[in-house]
Amino acid sequence: MASQMREMDDFHEGIDAVAPDRKTRAGKIAEAFYRGHWLRGYIRGKLLADPVFDVALESIREKGGGVIDLGCGLGLLGFWIKIDGSPVSYKGCDLGGWKINEGRAAAQRMGYESMTLHEADLMEFPLENASVICAFDILHYLPEEQQGKLIRRLAQAAKEGSLVLLRNGVRECGWRSVVTLLEEWWTRCSGWISGGQINFPRLESLIAEFEKEGCLVEARPLWGKTPFSSYLLRIVSRH
Ligand SMILES: C[S@@+](CC[C@H](N)C(=O)[O-])C[C@H]1O[C@@H](n2cnc3c(N)ncnc32)[C@H](O)[C@@H]1O
Repeated sequence: MASQMREMDDFHEGIDAVAPDRKTRAGKIAEAFYRGHWLRGYIRGKLLADPVFDVALESIREKGGGVIDLGCGLGLLGFWIKIDGSPVSYKGCDLGGWKINEGRAAAQRMGYESMTLHEADLMEFPLENASVICAFDILHYLPEEQQGKLIRRLAQAAKEGSLVLLRNGVRECGWRSVVTLLEEWWTRCSGWISGGQINFPRLESLIAEFEKEGCLVEARPLWGKTPFSSYLLRIVSRH
């Protein structure tokens, strides 16, 4: 418990210790959302504390081309790419209609024309011609059969030349898996997210499934200052 509390302290210190430029960017993005203080606070905190945005941005800078973000929520990754001055196109999809509408309105206020948000099911969203496909914290919403189907689609896209970045909480990661599960329950109880399963995958099975489909997978923890069991998988074609 004491070590968990220390991790939470680190989490808050981490937000205070970030470079001013990152703080300014996160603040500007948050200010483009007019829905209320709570949402702006959430956006600022998420952009500053979650390392996935900078890691994805680095890969997108290297690879160039269009980005597809499956289960994009408010489209925060798109904002993080655009505020960096990147010319790449960004297309996000999510089933949460209010998030898509808020994200669209904010993107319009920021003048980000090459950023589009779609209210759509990620299982059906077209992946053709994407240079980088991001799927962050969405896999556990899907039943096992759909997880398998999505993995095969992503593997196919990787074999056609896309870089796939998949980040998700995983099972069997000690207290982090417990905190991740509690947080997921909270999102359902609070109404932040409605519906979907809570079905965290096993890291080894995920890697094995992509490898079986002919992909090369690099996996590493990516929880940063958060208390979650998040791993990032970087998936490319083996050939
Ligand atoms: C934990 S949030 C992650 C949001 C975003 N990827 C991020 O990292 O900030 C998961 C999102 O997946 C969305 N989602 C779940 N199932 C989906 C589906 N079948 N199609 C599209 N979006 C889905 C939810 O609405 C929710 O916004």
